[in-house]
Amino acid sequence: MADEILSVRDVTKHFPLTQGVLFRHEIGQVKAVDGVSFELRKGETLGLVGESGCGKSTLARILMGAERPTSGSVRFEDRDVFALSRPELRALRRRMQLVMQDPYTSLNPRMTVGDIVGEPFAVHGDPEGGRRKRVRELLEIVGLDPDHVNRYPHQFSGGQRQRIGIARALALRPDVIICDEPVSALDVSVQAQVMNLLADLQREFGLSYVFIAHDLAVVRHISDRVAVMYLGKIVETGDEEQIYDHPTHPYTQALLSAVPVPDPTKRTGQIVLEGDVPSPTNPPSGCRFRTRCWKAEEICATEEPALEARPGRSAHPSACHFAGESDRS
Ligand SMILES: Nc1ncnc2c1ncn2[C@@H]1O[C@H](COP(=O)(O)OP(=O)(O)O)[C@@H](O)[C@H]1O
Ligand code: SF4
Ligand SMILES: [Mg+2]
Repeated sequence: MADEILSVRDVTKHFPLTQGVLFRHEIGQVKAVDGVSFELRKGETLGLVGESGCGKSTLARILMGAERPTSGSVRFEDRDVFALSRPELRALRRRMQLVMQDPYTSLNPRMTVGDIVGEPFAVHGDPEGGRRKRVRELLEIVGLDPDHVNRYPHQFSGGQRQRIGIARALALRPDVIICDEPVSALDVSVQAQVMNLLADLQREFGLSYVFIAHDLAVVRHISDRVAVMYLGKIVETGDEEQIYDHPTHPYTQALLSAVPVPDPTKRTGQIVLEGDVPSPTNPPSGCRFRTRCWKAEEICATEEPALEARPGRSAHPSACHFAGESDRS
């Protein structure tokens, strides 16, 4: 499709699990990402949600071209990211940026804010009008005082540090920003401010976002479409309304029923997810969610449900043999 900027096809990433110190041998594989496909359209936000350990950051690194997938492909516009020459990869790096969860560990504490935000120019060349001017402009764009260019990261609050990370990501005027849990480490009130900033920047600069979170509530307002991940796979995907108002996969339903509501006494039929997420080294046979699913039947252990729309039960893709709107939430 012409308006797709990023296209991800059947991507897997299996890390070898090794044992031994002198003679390391492989005793298994961590199936961190296990067959993920999606498209990102120009100017939209795709929310990518799942519990910790389900493969979100691994996928983010693959999208950035920073880690090679075990199989599958990533295309930026119509180019295969993993078939690019070095100069082409450099050019791609200008157009796609990453904003990470913890701004403190991703910002060098010994560099001034001006140097941090201006760092991409050292690699890719100075902008028109000069580096200093552009850095001040960038600080202003993200709501920071340009007179603070000579301060160090520790002199800023958590929310301000995330703004510094965003300013740096914007420096080279990218088209796509992969946001890997950019607000997860922030207080709720600060989260909203940073989310609003990201939404404003998207409108102003026509950015496309893949917005990663472990909580469905966080991405609701910024997402046009949402993909829910469980143990390395997308289990349900649809537009914002389909996922939040008509979820058909039991996992999505459970995640949504755990979203805090203003008056908890008004909540009915909360679904409690029991047990831990199984190990990605040895995922359950058939449907990976079956060890925690209240709807599981025999077929769930033997046949893996495909991620597809199911006429009459799910208008959007849902990887469940018994997909359908819940009567429990
Ligand atoms: N370099 C690596 N080597 C081995 N296992 C890894 C590596 N990176 C991530 N993993 C494993 O892959 C799984 C997915 O991790 P990650 O992508 O960080 O998930 P998330 O971001 O959703 O929390 C986890 O089980 C993690 O321990
Ligand atoms: S396929 Fe079975 S185990 Fe998996 S989500 Fe659906 S009902 Fe639950
Ligand atoms: Mg992560």
